[in-house]
Amino acid sequence: MQRIKVKASTNYEVVIGKDLLNKIGVEIRKIAEPCKVGIITDNKVAGKYLETVKNSLEKEGFTTYNFVFKNGEKSKTVETFIKIQNFLAENEFSRKDILLALGGGVVGDLTGFCASTYMRGIRYVQAPTTLLAGIDSSVGGKTAIDLKAGKNLVGTFYQPIKVVFDIKTLDSLPEKEYLNGLGEGVKYAIMDGGEIYELVKDGLSHANLEKFCALCVKSKKAVVEKDEKEGGYRKILNLGHTFAHAIEKLSDYTIPHGRCVAMGLKIIADVSLKQGWLSTAESILVEKLLKNNGLMTPSPFEKKDMIEVMRRDKKVSGDKITIVSIAKIGKCEFKEIKLDQLKKYLR
Ligand code: NAD
Ligand code: GLY
Repeated sequence: MQRIKVKASTNYEVVIGKDLLNKIGVEIRKIAEPCKVGIITDNKVAGKYLETVKNSLEKEGFTTYNFVFKNGEKSKTVETFIKIQNFLAENEFSRKDILLALGGGVVGDLTGFCASTYMRGIRYVQAPTTLLAGIDSSVGGKTAIDLKAGKNLVGTFYQPIKVVFDIKTLDSLPEKEYLNGLGEGVKYAIMDGGEIYELVKDGLSHANLEKFCALCVKSKKAVVEKDEKEGGYRKILNLGHTFAHAIEKLSDYTIPHGRCVAMGLKIIADVSLKQGWLSTAESILVEKLLKNNGLMTPSPFEKKDMIEVMRRDKKVSGDKITIVSIAKIGKCEFKEIKLDQLKKYLR
């Protein structure tokens, strides 16, 4: 088991290990007196883990309530947000009480946003059950809901009071969701190099999963502690994301985020090579890393369509866009590039 301390506007611990959900009551009791806990989850996750979590909390004296919504990004909406706020009010939740996000990034983002706004802020715990949520979205306090106009357009920075990541839950995760998370994980390997890169360069083995997750969280923690509210440096976590967001949008969000990130990583490696920012030898390492982890799917979209979406990106200034480039495995840098130049490099 690993315990990682995050020092942000709220200091909290990220606990990573096996069979933690049946001890989640004990984990929360360490930092909170018995109170109401509103478990927010989706129908798929509820069927597998809700009972275990409820029993564990009740054993420690917490009173549990649960709100279950339909799984998937389509639920990360204002409508679900309002339903959860009403559920909290109807059950007389107060500022002394706690929300618990049990699920993937959709549950985590939505619950965090509800917690940050209900009564101007109540405490919440993240219990991620997908690889993506465990290594990325449950840490760092970005909360969000989507609008018709785009993803994550409404949100806050609001840190949880604890993250409990039971990696045993990944045993029930479908392969496609696992690869989705691995897309973000490989991003950390490129950013940091060293131990994370060594663990995944030939393909991540199950035996190394806990260590890998902990290293990803440590990597994110280091960035969040430097720039919690994304004044500048935190944007380094957007490695591969400029292209990923364009692919996601063009697919009408049918290709999962992490898969789009993996496609974006290949594109930024190509762009970095062609601009002379990355050597041929290092670009081959990036390619091998993606290939060995089953993440070498090319973007299915035309370059002119990708560029059109990117023109509307908030990182665009005039005819240029700021992107996170790869200098080598373990070193990424912000670079400005003309959109027309970028277009030439896309396939
Ligand atoms: P998700 O929450 O939709 O989960 C994916 C699917 O897996 C769902 O159908 C879910 O029901 C199912 N599932 C979850 N856990 C399971 C388990 N253990 N076994 C079987 N099925 C399980 O998606 P996600 O990929 O976890 O998260 C994506 C979301 O995260 C997006 O909304 C994205 O915007 C957000 N995100 C947020 C941040 C952040 O910093 N806040 C970072 C990256 C992504
Ligand atoms: N996933 C990007 C961030 O947390 O900043």
